[in-house]
Amino acid sequence: VPVALITGITGQDGSFLAEQLLAAGWTVVGMRRRSASPNLWRLQAILDRAQFRLVHGDLLDTGSLVRVLSDCQPDHVYNLAAQSFVPTSWEQPVYTGEATGLGCARLLEAVRAVCPGARFYQAGSSEMFGTGGGDVQDVHTPFHPRSPYGVAKVYAHHLTVNYRESYGLFAVGGILFNHESERRGEEFVTRKISRAVARIHLGRQAVLRLGRIDVKRDWGFAGDYTRAIHAMLLQDEPQDHIIATGRAWSVQEFAEKAFAVVDRDWRDHVEHDPALLRPAEITCLKGNPAPARAALGWEPAVDFDGLVVRMVEADLERERRA
Ligand SMILES: NC(=O)c1ccc[n+]([C@@H]2O[C@H](COP(=O)([O-])OP(=O)(O)OC[C@H]3O[C@@H](n4cnc5c(N)ncnc54)[C@H](OP(=O)(O)O)[C@@H]3O)[C@@H](O)[C@H]2O)c1
Repeated sequence: VPVALITGITGQDGSFLAEQLLAAGWTVVGMRRRSASPNLWRLQAILDRAQFRLVHGDLLDTGSLVRVLSDCQPDHVYNLAAQSFVPTSWEQPVYTGEATGLGCARLLEAVRAVCPGARFYQAGSSEMFGTGGGDVQDVHTPFHPRSPYGVAKVYAHHLTVNYRESYGLFAVGGILFNHESERRGEEFVTRKISRAVARIHLGRQAVLRLGRIDVKRDWGFAGDYTRAIHAMLLQDEPQDHIIATGRAWSVQEFAEKAFAVVDRDWRDHVEHDPALLRPAEITCLKGNPAPARAALGWEPAVDFDGLVVRMVEADLERERRA
């Protein structure tokens, strides 16, 4: 039975990818760091599965990575772990570089030493493009990241390509545009909106405060994107890909559609909060998914409207149970 190691198992993508790999017959080892508070809520559906286990390790601790790889001898390594929240990266730029950038270097070095035959996936981001390209970004668009997070991801991406070229590792950088779900962290704007819609509708919250609502992102569904991640490591040759929908929607449009799910007008509930403005912004990100669709046979199943509805409905359900 093939073995996959997933770093970042407690995060949004880790949970979807683990479920899909288990369903495909893989053994999944999830690496988590020590936490004083419970953070396994996204993994409830698979925690008891015989083919799934959790191990402790931290991208800041090379020895722990060597130990984890030696113990599980994976066929696939998915590096999803990161300090992944863009605003935090201005508050903690050095830590973000350590985890999101150098964390990838530590893991690649450990893979090279322990299991060089393993296939390696690095979770790249559209934030790497920043203001680097025209209207639509593809793998040839130059990087001009606009946050310490984006800068750290560029380093990790280049290093992944470099280890492929230097050492012949099957190492692939996926450049994923924003992908959301009901498992998204509450601090990210889409989930902040869907949760606020539910709470406002149930009378538990007064207003929703947002920063810029004109910025546009290419938003897809996380469960679709993790299928593409797996497909990238099943290619005959290691090749980097953009995963996107090819359409961009503003934060305002997300809020409009989210409030419409409960028959409310977003303008009655949203307030502008200048404290939420970023030191540097990216006004629009939109990816070209055509090459990945052709190479991987990948098609997303959930569209933007479907995504908004499922997120709001999940938060309504959660709030009603709370
Ligand atoms: N979602 C998107 O739209 C998107 C788009 C492009 C790229 N990405 C990248 O794709 C990856 C997965 O995204 P996501 O949305 O699933 O992120 P997420 O929900 O924020 O999950 C991040 C994961 O990384 C773990 N982690 C953080 N620092 C760590 C460290 N030092 N050592 C070990 N684990 C650590 C976290 O563990 P804790 O639970 O302990 O915090 C968590 O499991 C991330 O690298 C992200 O930057 C995401």
